[in-house]
Amino acid sequence: MSLGGSVKIFLDTANLREIEEAASWGVLSGVTTNPSLMAREEGADFQETIQAITRLVDGPISAETVSEDADGMVKEGKTYAAWHPNVIVKVPATLEGLKAVARLKDEGIRTNVTLCFNANQALLAARAGAFVVSPFVGRLDDISESGIELIQEIADVFAMDREIETQILAASIRHPRHILEVAKAGADIATCPFKVLVQSMKHPLTDKGIDMFLDDWRRREAVQVASAGTS
Ligand code: E4P
Repeated sequence: MSLGGSVKIFLDTANLREIEEAASWGVLSGVTTNPSLMAREEGADFQETIQAITRLVDGPISAETVSEDADGMVKEGKTYAAWHPNVIVKVPATLEGLKAVARLKDEGIRTNVTLCFNANQALLAARAGAFVVSPFVGRLDDISESGIELIQEIADVFAMDREIETQILAASIRHPRHILEVAKAGADIATCPFKVLVQSMKHPLTDKGIDMFLDDWRRREAVQVASAGTS
């Protein structure tokens, strides 16, 4: 059940340099990948990449299946899950995906139901036994629907049902404001592109404040040196 108010930060990338850097900030609780993100890492082997991520981040690491039928998803899922206990198998929010979730759950394998665009998909995914559901906030905003309202609706539906333990993983995060909005709407996790996390820590007044403090410090040191010279 989602109680809201405490959102974990995941990184949405398959780029090992980005993951290593973001992990050093101490804020990462997990990583999500998808076939498009993997395709950006030219020449990288999928299994090696996922296993390298598990060494960098101690938390759920999502690896996506590419089969269109449940048998194929289950087969891929079992293979991925054998790579590391932290691997979460991503399946699409389709009827075949639901079958795969139920079968993988029976095998003790955790799933992430991805490409979720309405609360019915999320509810059925939860009922089938998904570990997390991934509503895509930015892609809904792109078609003039509210991704944040979807997070809120799923959180409300899950909160009404004590049996649901599925977490809400807000995906397709496009800007820092999204992170706060999904947190307030009841998401358990926000998976963010590297760029969005960098932007999240940027503020012109922080940079200006650092410059002012350093200038004042240097001026103070110059005064001390000058007064030491005259004494
Ligand atoms: C989630 O797990 C997906 O990888 C991701 O958030 C998709 O976002 P996009 O709309 O930026 O491709």
